Amino acid sequence: MDSFVIEGGRRLAGRLRVNGSKNAALPIMAAALMTDQPVTLKDVPDLADIRNMMKLLAELGCHRTNEAGPKHVMALHSTDRSNSHARYDIVRTMRAGVCVLGPLLARRGYCRVSMPGGCAIGDRPIDLHLRGVKALGAEVTMDGGDITVKAPPGGLVGTTIFLGGPFGSTVLGTANVMCAATVAKGTTVIESAACEPEIVDLASLLTKMGAKITGAGSPRITIEGVAQLGGCEHTIMPDRIEAGTFMMAAAITNGDLVLDNCPTDALLSTIDRLDAIGVSVEPIEILRPEGFVADPLRQAVRVTCGRVIRPVEVTTQPHPGFPTDLQAQLMALLTLADGNSVITERIFPERFLHVAELARMGAKIFRQGPTVIVSGVRQLTGAPVMASDLRASACLVLAGMAAEGTTIVNRVYHLDRGYEKMEERLCGVGAKITRVSEKEE
Ligand code: EPZ
Repeated sequence: MDSFVIEGGRRLAGRLRVNGSKNAALPIMAAALMTDQPVTLKDVPDLADIRNMMKLLAELGCHRTNEAGPKHVMALHSTDRSNSHARYDIVRTMRAGVCVLGPLLARRGYCRVSMPGGCAIGDRPIDLHLRGVKALGAEVTMDGGDITVKAPPGGLVGTTIFLGGPFGSTVLGTANVMCAATVAKGTTVIESAACEPEIVDLASLLTKMGAKITGAGSPRITIEGVAQLGGCEHTIMPDRIEAGTFMMAAAITNGDLVLDNCPTDALLSTIDRLDAIGVSVEPIEILRPEGFVADPLRQAVRVTCGRVIRPVEVTTQPHPGFPTDLQAQLMALLTLADGNSVITERIFPERFLHVAELARMGAKIFRQGPTVIVSGVRQLTGAPVMASDLRASACLVLAGMAAEGTTIVNRVYHLDRGYEKMEERLCGVGAKITRVSEKEE
């Protein structure tokens, strides 16, 4: 298992490009199961989770036909429908594997998917996913930790489905139900649908495949069933969580970063909180051959931070609220604020494994249930720390870059799931991070 050795106290300055979104790419890759025609995806990030999803799709008969590259382009072709079992040992390592459920049910009328189980950030139930497909007429049975889902003999039938749960809607649950509904007979209305930008990107891909979807990005999505879907070409939206992570990296090192391909329109709540903290995120006009073209999901922005990091109150919410996937990274920044901040986690109330690790670096954090008080300190001190999940790892890298001395972040395989070559890209703008493999250690 690799570690990062981070020398702190270095300002980030320069230019970084934001990669395509992992959380958009995963359900979009799964949607390739819904047609026997080729689906070509561009700006697909090269990540462990993406490679795992590719492995799962290959087992399900959907292959990458351009193995030789180029790296960030993925040509998918689903040609073999003989196996529709998403096995436990893939889904347990990547819970997002559950997003093959809707596409398999739509195209094959049957699938067997392992229950994802829990993970470091908390329980990962799929009761809302199952409520949605049952409403479309599917029969759902439990079998040794697997869920078996079967469409009725006449096929799925559109209906109105309420997908709200105790923590708001469900992103991948909305993806699964939206995919299944694209070929259901009649009209499906998903009420309390997830409004995340990644759902909008998936709906955009499905529409290119021939689906009839309106309202994606709002709590009410309407899908008119069609007979079948075809192939298409699609460019994955930029990764708003990676972009937000880089913004906080610039802020915590008092740096000056320009981010290209930045989805500012999908980060408004984050930019609002950063503004309150004293972090400036200024769009830069992009001159293209056709002139100044404003694509609010693909902007260039300059990120700088004032000398003082101001304390704030933040509560994570479903989109367009502050994203839970940036909670840990923001906490790292707020450990150095000039006062007390309050962070409340409403999506995954147990998502605080990074708190103890930050405390090892001298942070002062007091947790009461889903809320933590972060009492700002003048300086963090480098220490060996343990990554526990993807976004906690990013939090510890940010803290290590700001800390005095050396920080060793262990188990950075968590980070490799969601950030492509993070150490190389951060070193390219002034960080000093060395990846050390276990055998080298
Ligand atoms: C997606 O997970 C993201 N993953 C997560 O990002 C993100 O944290 C999460 O949405 C919330 O925004 C991908 O897109 C691959 P949910 P998802 O279903 O869809 C509860 C990262 O770091 N719930 O929206 O699995 C659930 O327990 C990852 O990139 C039910 O109660 O999350 C949670 O409290 C981590 N029943 C809340 O809803 C269900 O059937 C939101 O979960 C489903 C979910």
